[in-house]
Amino acid sequence: MGRLDNVHSPHTTLLARPLSRLNGKVVALFAVGALLWFTGINISRWGFSKTGDPWVGLVEHCKHAKPIAESEFAERQHKLAHALHTLKASAYVAEPGASAQYFGNISGSSWSLSERPLLLMVSPIIQAGEVVPKVIVLTPSFEETRAKLLTIPGANVTYVSWQEDEDPYAVGLHALPSSAAARIYVDGMVRHFIVDGFQKAAPGVNVTSAPPEITSLRERKSRAELALLRCVNEVTLLAIRAVQRQMYIGIRESQVKDLIDQALTVAGVTDRWALVLFGENAALPHGSGTDRVLGQSDLILIDTGGSLYEYHSDVTRTFVLPNTQVPDEYLGHWFAVHAAQTAAFNAAKEGVVTSRVDEVARKVLVEHGLGQYFTHRLGHGIGLEDHEAPYLRGGSDDIIKAGHAFSNEPGIYIQGKVGIRLEDCFYINQDGDAVYLTVGVGGQALDPLRP
Ligand SMILES: *[C@@H]1O[C@H](CO)[C@@H](O)[C@H](O)[C@H]1NC(C)=O
Ligand SMILES: *[C@@H]1O[C@H](CO)[C@@H](O)[C@H](O)[C@H]1NC(C)=O
Ligand SMILES: *[C@@H]1O[C@H](CO)[C@@H](O)[C@H](O)[C@H]1NC(C)=O
Repeated sequence: MGRLDNVHSPHTTLLARPLSRLNGKVVALFAVGALLWFTGINISRWGFSKTGDPWVGLVEHCKHAKPIAESEFAERQHKLAHALHTLKASAYVAEPGASAQYFGNISGSSWSLSERPLLLMVSPIIQAGEVVPKVIVLTPSFEETRAKLLTIPGANVTYVSWQEDEDPYAVGLHALPSSAAARIYVDGMVRHFIVDGFQKAAPGVNVTSAPPEITSLRERKSRAELALLRCVNEVTLLAIRAVQRQMYIGIRESQVKDLIDQALTVAGVTDRWALVLFGENAALPHGSGTDRVLGQSDLILIDTGGSLYEYHSDVTRTFVLPNTQVPDEYLGHWFAVHAAQTAAFNAAKEGVVTSRVDEVARKVLVEHGLGQYFTHRLGHGIGLEDHEAPYLRGGSDDIIKAGHAFSNEPGIYIQGKVGIRLEDCFYINQDGDAVYLTVGVGGQALDPLRP
């Protein structure tokens, strides 16, 4: 309490109020943070500055980032060919999207899906006693020139085209090596009419979703992938912090959304999105649609992300401005959510079942009497997709492995009152331990004032 008496600021309400409920350490941190904020002192190496360029540090942050190298794509194709060979399958099929991006550099944005299939097909062939991948791009004939503009890495890419009056699936099957076994694995996102098409073209062939031996290849991230995930998640958190410094009581949710978009644009992040929710609007986890004005007693929730060379970020912060007067009760809830996030992080290790991590976070919120307000799963995998397998949720029996990356996002949603969510993504390192993708810029939030 003595410390706070020395804070000669008109805005001590936030600092003084939590005293009755929260331990001294947290309050002291809080007090120091707010004091430095008001005196404009630079308290971090990330450019905590009230003046000058609002986006300081964002432009440079991911400048050094490198896209996935051709050699890594070749390695992925080789691993896929080996897995297919072991599984006695003749081909793996993916449509433009995350899996085709992973194995062939064909993203969903580089080729839009239409009723005419363009497919990446990878087959194992034996050459000089070795299993090697044969990569086929099945394309509509009149689109072949455009398909050849796709930069598909790999020594041996064959373009096979189908005419408008031909059956694309029969053409695709015909292009497979003649020794082909009677099984084709499709990526889980391949549309049903394509699966049907293959099945009708070859009734004797078993067309099935790719098994874990194949899906796990993309789930477990390489060093190069983790470097991209780290950078894009870090810069997304820096953007939230930079936007916090531009905010004031009276600003609208839509204005904050624009600020986030500006910050992420400056940072070189593409596919940007943001949810900005004030006060009771944050009690709807996916938004409200009212363009609310920030009030004196509102908590602010920003959930945002985007991508860097196709790798995604996803960060949520619930925070306050220094002159906010948030009810003590809500500040207490904030620290409960924070404790749940910490507990989940500490529980996540190689070999642990994913549902266990969700359970640990849930237990903390139950102990705080907030269990019924934690209405969604703890987290999702992240990589070439913003949400991908495996998931941290009750009922899941997936086992955590090195290279997995997940969001850790406990939250509470009290309808008509308040919503609090804190989200940092983490990965499992080679020692089997969890490491925040945002660790390079401090990781988890410190307190409601310092996201
Ligand atoms: C992957 O495709 C992008 C364009 O979408 C291209 O810039 C990049 O060079 C390609 N990567 C490789 C390794 O070919
Ligand atoms: C490419 O695949 C074909 C078989 O489809 C094979 O004859 C050729 O040797 C392969 N080339 C390379 C460089 O692997
Ligand atoms: C296809 O393969 C799957 C997985 O091995 C199997 O469960 C299914 O029964 C097979 N379907 C047919 C029609 O053979």
